[in-house]
Amino acid sequence: MKILKAKDYSDLSRKAANLISAQILMKPHCVLGLATGSTPIGTYKQLVDAYNQGDLDFSEVTTVNLDEYKGLPKENDQSYYYFMNDHLFSKVNIDKSRTFLPDGTEEDSDKACRQYNDIIHSLGGVDLQLLGLGHNGHIGFNEPGTAFEKETHCVTLSERTIKANMRFFVSENDVPRQAYTMGIKTIMSAHKIVVVVSGADKADIVKEAFFGPVTPQVPASILQLHNDVTVVADEAALSKCTELI
Ligand code: F6R
Repeated sequence: MKILKAKDYSDLSRKAANLISAQILMKPHCVLGLATGSTPIGTYKQLVDAYNQGDLDFSEVTTVNLDEYKGLPKENDQSYYYFMNDHLFSKVNIDKSRTFLPDGTEEDSDKACRQYNDIIHSLGGVDLQLLGLGHNGHIGFNEPGTAFEKETHCVTLSERTIKANMRFFVSENDVPRQAYTMGIKTIMSAHKIVVVVSGADKADIVKEAFFGPVTPQVPASILQLHNDVTVVADEAALSKCTELI
């Protein structure tokens, strides 16, 4: 596991975008695994800037996102599709028919998850997976206690995650209670993984996840066993591991 120390959030965003740009330049028809949440927003902005400057071409890129709320259609402004379209897809020359997320409108969970697994397998897997890190160590919507061997599955969100996501909704009651998410097995199958983490409020979980024991109680800890993970974190997020890196 490589740790890239960034000075601050904008430096982190630039470093993470550089890793993604390198992937696209090396393999223009790559499959990118993408994440939502607040941390990657700066990374997407950097990618859009690079595209606008003529340095990046998304025309052959395919994307698969980590997760989507169950029950939210693409048009809902809190859906993860809407987020991706807003921050990246609508701003670059990507072919929208090659941007995949789990189908939040599919009520049959088994069917939705099977279809999404089939898409990922038919693409031949993910070249580079971008991840954020939840305060409880979740990656995607894989909450503490999730079995490591799961592929795409339906999850019931923990109270803490519902509260953390509440900031994006009018009220807590509007936050969907379930989501479809790539499983840890799917995430671990990516050839390369880039984790972006920012802020002092993530310092404890960074130490626990990347320097503590590997346990399903801290889902991100499994990343220690992947052979190509780069954690791009700012000084605040790394403030509790200074003696370890
Ligand atoms: C997003 C996702 C989540 C977030 C995590 C961190 O698609 O799957 O696991 O990456 O909750 O979110 P932020 O970046 O908002 O702290």
